[in-house]
Amino acid sequence: MRILFLGDIVGKSGRDIVSSLLYDLRKDYQADLVIVNAENAAHGKGITYKIYKQLLNEGIDYITMGNHTFSKAEIFDHIDDMDRLVVPYNHSKRTTDNYYKLISYKGMKICLTNILGSVLMPESESDPYTAFKTVLEKTGQLEPDFYFVDLHAETTAEKRLFLEYFKDEAKVVLGTHTHVQTADEAIIHECAFITDVGMCGAYCSIIGRDIEESIKAGIEKEKTIYKIASGTGILCGVVIEIDDKRKTPVNIQRLQIRPE
Ligand code: FE2
Repeated sequence: MRILFLGDIVGKSGRDIVSSLLYDLRKDYQADLVIVNAENAAHGKGITYKIYKQLLNEGIDYITMGNHTFSKAEIFDHIDDMDRLVVPYNHSKRTTDNYYKLISYKGMKICLTNILGSVLMPESESDPYTAFKTVLEKTGQLEPDFYFVDLHAETTAEKRLFLEYFKDEAKVVLGTHTHVQTADEAIIHECAFITDVGMCGAYCSIIGRDIEESIKAGIEKEKTIYKIASGTGILCGVVIEIDDKRKTPVNIQRLQIRPE
């Protein structure tokens, strides 16, 4: 089994590059399943129901989120109908039990879940270790072969620490949130791991945000309206290969497509 996971989709540039490349990526990497993090898909903060439907129509199977999950208030009106959306278990605004999905494929049961880090993450109501322990308790009766965790966190050490602590349960731990892809993808303790997958968003930007507006806001201390960068996107992701018989990851490959 091969799973294609794409990092945080940021605004229109991110949606456009995913839309234009997804068909070929799915074919070229023979992906059985496509998962994306789309917590920045709607103008950099959150997701709308319309964008959710568009992403599914384009061939995405599941969508994970992050600290901006509830930034667009309309999500509360649709969340019960968004059965392919997985939101962070430990987000302080979570109202429903859609923090996991049990994915059955070729006799394998994978529990996809989403956890927030605790460092520089005010939306998190508990640390990721306590949160995932609770997820294990609450979902253990489903008897998944392993957990696939989108660990949406700021710091590098927090993500590797998570992997070491939960290596027997979480066989896939993918970091998201920083929007910068790290070059440490590896199979460690028979787990597929990367500190951060990176983003799908405007290449000429400050992690997806408009450069001029970022300068005004961050350096010149002007009051600005948050602006997402436009222009051609970079696409970042990983492809994970899982041995169907052993039900364990055997390879993780980094993917990064930049504009010419
Ligand atoms: Fe984030």
